[in-house]
Amino acid sequence: MKSVIITGGGSGLGAALAEEYAKKYKVILIGRTLMKLTMVKDVLVQRGQHADCYACDVTSMEEVKHVFGQLFQQEDIHMLINNAGSGIFGPLEKFTEEEVNLLLDINVKGPLFTTMTALPYLKEKAEGQIMNIISTAGLRGKINESVYCASKFAVRGFTESLVKELDGTGISVTAVYMGGMDTPFWEDSDHVKDKSRFKTPEQVAVQIAAEDTGKAEIFIDR
Ligand SMILES: NC(=O)c1ccc[n+]([C@@H]2O[C@H](COP(=O)([O-])OP(=O)(O)OC[C@H]3O[C@@H](n4cnc5c(N)ncnc54)[C@H](OP(=O)(O)O)[C@@H]3O)[C@@H](O)[C@H]2O)c1
Repeated sequence: MKSVIITGGGSGLGAALAEEYAKKYKVILIGRTLMKLTMVKDVLVQRGQHADCYACDVTSMEEVKHVFGQLFQQEDIHMLINNAGSGIFGPLEKFTEEEVNLLLDINVKGPLFTTMTALPYLKEKAEGQIMNIISTAGLRGKINESVYCASKFAVRGFTESLVKELDGTGISVTAVYMGGMDTPFWEDSDHVKDKSRFKTPEQVAVQIAAEDTGKAEIFIDR
């Protein structure tokens, strides 16, 4: 059975995407907290769907190489969904060096490391798909989101380049842009005062799966 790796699969959009993609694939959930991943996996398995999970910090190339190396040996991996991400918001001068590094590590280096590791395997099979979950913060700048936008613009540039670089290889690359979703992403932040108009991650996941034809861009919001 073909498998899909979903990073950040233990909560929010990643968990909702697992629900959608488990209808067609075995889903392999990746994240740092095994307990959250296991809870999502167990629900799918109890329903008779195929799922597995692995603890892996995608900011560590060593961990990514170890876990992905194992996965690509054991599974028929068709798709990688780079969904893991984090947000810190506020005026730029209030950021610490650690906060800048944290956002760039998880939001930019995370998808780079996983994709760099997955590509040789996908290229050997000459088929597959990379999907990068970006944000409308990758389409335009926003007040108090300078570092987050910088990270998401970076992933957009990365994704658009890969679309061209992998043209003709059998591997499709998809960028997904969405606005606010009511997920644990906002738990430690007062950046958004009113989340009542946010979409649910489930709504967004349904729309992504419905529009996922391997095309280069999916716009949930602009
Ligand atoms: N929520 C929004 O309004 C919104 C809007 C547009 C785009 N997005 C994007 O959507 C994606 C999913 O976010 P979400 O809203 O679903 O938030 P979320 O519930 O906080 O999900 C993020 C997931 O990423 C995992 N993660 C964080 N750092 C990681 C690391 N170093 N290695 C592996 N996994 C890691 C987290 O699990 P662990 O902490 O256990 O590792 C968590 O399960 C993100 O890329 C975010 O930027 C969110």
